[in-house]
Amino acid sequence: MDELSQQDVIITAALPYAYDDLHLGHVASTHLPPDILYRYLKLKGRRVIQVCASDDFGTPILIAAEKQGKDPAEYVARWNARFREDLEKLGIVYDLFDRTSSPENVQMVQRFFTKLDENGYIFVSEVDQFYCEFDRKYLPDRYVKGKCPYCGAEEQYSDVCENCGRTLQPGQILAPHCSICGRPPVLRKSAHYFFKLSAFAKKLEDWLVGTPGLQGDVKNYVLNWIKDGLQDWDITRDIPWGVPIPLEDAQGKVLYGWFDNHLCYITTALKAAGKSGEEGRRYWNGAKLYHFIGKDIVYHHYLFLPSMRMGEGEYKLPDYIPTRGHLLLLGKKVSRSKRWMITVREFVEHFPPDYLRFYLTRITPLSQADSNFDLKEFADKINNELVASVGNFVYRALSFVQTKHGGVVPEPGTPGAADEAVLAELRSAVKDTGELVEQGHYDRALRRVLDFSAACNQYFQKKAPWENNDDEPTAVFYSCNLVAGLATLLAPFLPHSSQKIWDQLSFGRKLEDFGWDSAGGLRVEAGRKISEPKPVFRKVEEADLGKVRVLLG
Ligand code: 2FM
Ligand code: ZN
Repeated sequence: MDELSQQDVIITAALPYAYDDLHLGHVASTHLPPDILYRYLKLKGRRVIQVCASDDFGTPILIAAEKQGKDPAEYVARWNARFREDLEKLGIVYDLFDRTSSPENVQMVQRFFTKLDENGYIFVSEVDQFYCEFDRKYLPDRYVKGKCPYCGAEEQYSDVCENCGRTLQPGQILAPHCSICGRPPVLRKSAHYFFKLSAFAKKLEDWLVGTPGLQGDVKNYVLNWIKDGLQDWDITRDIPWGVPIPLEDAQGKVLYGWFDNHLCYITTALKAAGKSGEEGRRYWNGAKLYHFIGKDIVYHHYLFLPSMRMGEGEYKLPDYIPTRGHLLLLGKKVSRSKRWMITVREFVEHFPPDYLRFYLTRITPLSQADSNFDLKEFADKINNELVASVGNFVYRALSFVQTKHGGVVPEPGTPGAADEAVLAELRSAVKDTGELVEQGHYDRALRRVLDFSAACNQYFQKKAPWENNDDEPTAVFYSCNLVAGLATLLAPFLPHSSQKIWDQLSFGRKLEDFGWDSAGGLRVEAGRKISEPKPVFRKVEEADLGKVRVLLG
């Protein structure tokens, strides 16, 4: 990212399906990384917006709503509100958290369909569709379960195999049965609309090769998929819940959820920015675009999404699609059906939200490698790094001001070598951390802040102000400034705690107002009265972990 660029930045996070709670895996790969970037860019004074939405349409949601006897629109609205509450608890606040079923998005999606059709990328074909004669309905996707034709896994939905990750076309699944009544369905002919994905093979390849911001590891296997040949894509569903296909002879048919959901990135960003029409397109096309995702939706984001934008022709393709691996839970894959998961709701009942942000950031690299949520490691990282290093330095330094100087920051003497050195260390921490964030390495950026925190502790220890040396006031003055620096460095990662640290310094102005670049300077002046110091972090005890183990049964 060019340092002083005035370019707008638009950040999106993959949209959660409106049928189940957000769990820690969603946070690790999809919602926390963009929030770190967003908060950092804001501190840098960049014009940036961050958006997300609930992914409302599709068969799984319709099935879930039907099971509860609810109208799907009412059903998804409840999930949307719940997602926003959960994310807000973690300090993840979007400029707009909208929904794929919004009227603006329906309009955007229909416009896209029409343009793609006019440009020759849509065709109709009769397909065999599963139909349950008992339930009297077509059975797309999750309405049918069976055996994966690729890996042989049983009880897989007919649109995707959760075991091998392959996307399945209607009719491909083996030994199918209706997920409502369990009876084998029959095949019936239905006219379906297809998107000519195969027409984009060359263009997709050029885009993948020519876009430096895309991750190398992901690029390579997407290029292999292209080499293997791209299949045209059935974008029709015979269900009553989705964006209606805007054609006379497509009555009763809606678009597949993966046709409409990523278009909601565009719709929501423009809505958040208050721009539409030509102005909206100019805004989108002039911005740096980031779409944060987890590795299970690479196919959709590296093939469907770009080819639809290419085919429509008016909206720029992403510059970055930061793609992260799965979060394992105590070494095992998260499973909704087995309830092997911890929801955000459950977690924040037991621990401060910043503990989750801290630990997940520490263990999640910018790669498709999976990370593992381990309770013992969680406690160790919080206790040894956050409490024993950051918390310890902040509390010791500020307590010293309180007890020895009546809470007033002392006037420093002439700085010596150690004072100059620690200030230089602060400056390089600000520079290095910023660079690492800009490169997308939030785990390493946080590690860099922790190295700085260790340097602060060493400085304090070396200066030993409790020995009442001549330069005791200088040490205390510098330490207060190191605390302020640390607060800013931590702000993108730990918004709640950094604000608490900041408040103890009684700035009277918000941390954000000072920005990122000033963090390397001396911002706490002599004579300032600080607030009563209080420990910002508390240790994670064995009893706390026990509560989480209970959640997992
Ligand atoms: O896989 C999922 O959870 C999808 N709901 C993600 C959608 S992201 C997008 F492209 F809209
Ligand atoms: Zn049935």
